[in-house]
Amino acid sequence: MMSFGKRLRLTLFGTSHGPYVGVEVEGFPAGLAVDAAMIQAELDRRSPVGRALATRRHEEDRLVIDEGLVDGRTDGGRFRAHVANTDIRREPYDRLRYTPRPGHADFPARHRFGEEADLSGGGIFSGRMTVGLVIAGSLARRLLRDHGIEVAAFTRSIGHVDGSWDEALGLRELVEAAGANELGCPDPVAAAAMGEAIATARRAGDSVGGIIEGQATGLPVGLGEPFFDSIESEVAQLAFAIPGVKGIDFGAGFRSARMRGSEHNDPFVWDGSTVRTSTNHAGGILGGLATGAALVFRVAIKPTASIARPQGTVDLRTKANVEIVVTGRHDPCIVPRAVVVVEAVTSLALAELGLRGGFL
Ligand SMILES: Cc1cc2nc3c(=O)[nH]c(=O)nc-3n(C[C@H](O)[C@H](O)[C@H](O)COP(=O)(O)O)c2cc1C
Repeated sequence: MMSFGKRLRLTLFGTSHGPYVGVEVEGFPAGLAVDAAMIQAELDRRSPVGRALATRRHEEDRLVIDEGLVDGRTDGGRFRAHVANTDIRREPYDRLRYTPRPGHADFPARHRFGEEADLSGGGIFSGRMTVGLVIAGSLARRLLRDHGIEVAAFTRSIGHVDGSWDEALGLRELVEAAGANELGCPDPVAAAAMGEAIATARRAGDSVGGIIEGQATGLPVGLGEPFFDSIESEVAQLAFAIPGVKGIDFGAGFRSARMRGSEHNDPFVWDGSTVRTSTNHAGGILGGLATGAALVFRVAIKPTASIARPQGTVDLRTKANVEIVVTGRHDPCIVPRAVVVVEAVTSLALAELGLRGGFL
């Protein structure tokens, strides 16, 4: 049910308020140097602990590797890891059992999986499930790095606040600038305003969404499969696995519709050693395949569903229209915590395609 991939086969397991959440993956080559500290560092970037602007749930997310490593290297078999769910409070969810939260998965999930399904904390629809994506994504990142491919993501906007930076900056400089603030945005002035926007929404019992930009450099020309398993298709499929993602576009994306061919086409140039493009409206993809230019895309994330304001819903037992106030501890904005998750799914999509095409 919750599986991805043909060459890499990944399955998420667990549930928000069960004993743990985690991931199983088959298909990574043997001998990949996987440092548990490296995976933990990625998990820490997702964790709300120590973030002023995140939920006050205390999710420590200590990595436990169950199988698949020998002396810090993948053994070529199944890799499995999990983290325990340590901060569970069921009461707020028990109270909402028959009154689905607007904007969350409660309503269709109850219909689909029935009365007995454990939807506490959002069940399998919880943002906690992205722990497994981050764990598997760090293995994929290791594999890509060994082949000179780097993946990063940044907060582009929160609410109405847009970040802007020199588009010519290299990935390393952007990562460094983005690492200096809790928002994951390389623009420090915008990051401060974004923080304000989140704090203001939280004070109003409300939430905000935003846009995350993903990038990858060093892609071998031709990576990707024509038609159904294009780079766009694989990245989009995994990006939509991130709860709260409502849109994605690549390169000039939806703006392309308003451009002329003469404006949109990226001219090819010989730079003395290789064929490059002088612009990158294609976002590094033509025909579903990598052009060798940076992969660039943006993911739209909706404002968090669970807000502390009265909202209309239906009591499913009595069929009465009622008002609820969602209590519990929620992220006023998902975006900053989802940055590392976007990196993880991008790494997984590229590793899948790289392995399939014989590039890795
Ligand atoms: C890292 C992360 C944290 C999240 N935290 C919350 C939260 O605290 N409250 C909430 O209502 N939704 C949260 N979500 C989003 C919901 O899980 C998501 O909106 C819900 O499952 C419905 O799925 P959909 O928005 O993709 O339709 C989070 C998502 C992510 C990726």
